[in-house]
Amino acid sequence: MNVLLIGSGGREHALAYKIFESSKLTKLYCAPGNPGIEEFAELVELSTSDFNNIVVFAKEKGIDLVVVGPEQPLVDGLADHLRANGVNVFGPNKEAAMIEGDKSFSKELMKKYSIPTADFEVFTKNEKDNALNYLDKISYPTVIKASGLAAGKGVAICNSQKEAILIVDEYFENGIFGKSGHTIVIEEFLEGEEASIFIVTDGDNYVILPSSQDHKRALDGDKGKNTGGMGAYSPAPIISEKLLAQIEEKIIVPTLNALKIENRKYNGCLYCGLMITKEGPKVIEFNCRFGDPETQCVLPLLDGDFLQLLHSTAIGMIDQTAVKYNGGSSVCVVAASKGYPDNYEKGFEITGLDLKHENVIIYHAGTKKLNNRIVTNGGRVLGVTSVLKENNIKLAKQTTYDALSKINFEGITYRTDISDKAL
Ligand code: AMP
Ligand code: GLY
Repeated sequence: MNVLLIGSGGREHALAYKIFESSKLTKLYCAPGNPGIEEFAELVELSTSDFNNIVVFAKEKGIDLVVVGPEQPLVDGLADHLRANGVNVFGPNKEAAMIEGDKSFSKELMKKYSIPTADFEVFTKNEKDNALNYLDKISYPTVIKASGLAAGKGVAICNSQKEAILIVDEYFENGIFGKSGHTIVIEEFLEGEEASIFIVTDGDNYVILPSSQDHKRALDGDKGKNTGGMGAYSPAPIISEKLLAQIEEKIIVPTLNALKIENRKYNGCLYCGLMITKEGPKVIEFNCRFGDPETQCVLPLLDGDFLQLLHSTAIGMIDQTAVKYNGGSSVCVVAASKGYPDNYEKGFEITGLDLKHENVIIYHAGTKKLNNRIVTNGGRVLGVTSVLKENNIKLAKQTTYDALSKINFEGITYRTDISDKAL
């Protein structure tokens, strides 16, 4: 198979790594990719927003499967466009991707089909007065979310009414997330432990990948701002077999059915972000693609043929035996640029990338090649990830941090407590 992978982050590096292992692969292309992905794929300069060009490229190169990494092109309809032109694609159509692209839609869907989630109300920009009245009635903390895409940064936890009013102004008046923040969801604050579950599905049947946990906050102890994700581990011990059965019954099956009934049949990876509360698992958010950085931990724990899983899913006949959890464990720590998730500088040389570490994969996220050196080129720069054959998160953590201590660039910043919640 010839495969075209779309995207350029750590998640796409992990996807490329895994696809490259398949005996079914003839050639892998990646647009636009990054220097880490270049080890496995020919990088092509295709704009991920130029759908016509992607179709032309796919036809020209005889692409058997397009795998879309990030949410934006899915929400914008890239998968629809490819399917309409007879190109196989792993990733949901626009109507199904709305489950991530429009939080007000996904919350209403969950309400309609009794899928457990935080209580909420939706307000648009011209309903600001109603929003403010609502803030007067509820208890705190409360959570305010931009309804549209905001790179994982559109969620504010407000400890007081005063804070909440400021946030409403930020979204509605100052427009910090543009149109994405012109509709907001105000929802109940849930307490518990978070977990991420990836479902690969052709809309009818599905495969559940190993559980994981992200670390969204910038600083140790879950302090600081929300980020795209500062690290992850897999599997998440909180997800017992019993709990997983409950998640399937109460969340996965009803959600896939709801999407089918609503004519939004899902094809691709459905990311379920969950809070395990005292009342049971509840949905914090759905995403229409693999999570970043969880994917960097989850995929190396799969035996079997991952490309076969993606391809069989894309053609609507998911092979539920294509992959299997191998019993191992993994911890990924993101090395970020100083200042992330706010402003940061780029272009610093990264050293230590050529050192070979046993049981460690160094995923590239925000890097670029400059005169044969690798330099920083983003907020999240690397995902240093241990992969162990045994389920031993403590050793996995130690392995990751040992490797990380030998990597450097000016302003390197990372959390030191990734996976502690599992220990
Ligand atoms: P999201 O982008 O929706 O995943 O939200 C980002 C992060 O904010 C989540 O990973 C949680 O840590 C937190 N969060 C979101 N919604 C809630 C909620 N209703 N209650 C408590 N924490 C939340
Ligand atoms: N790790 C969170 C996300 O991918 O949205």
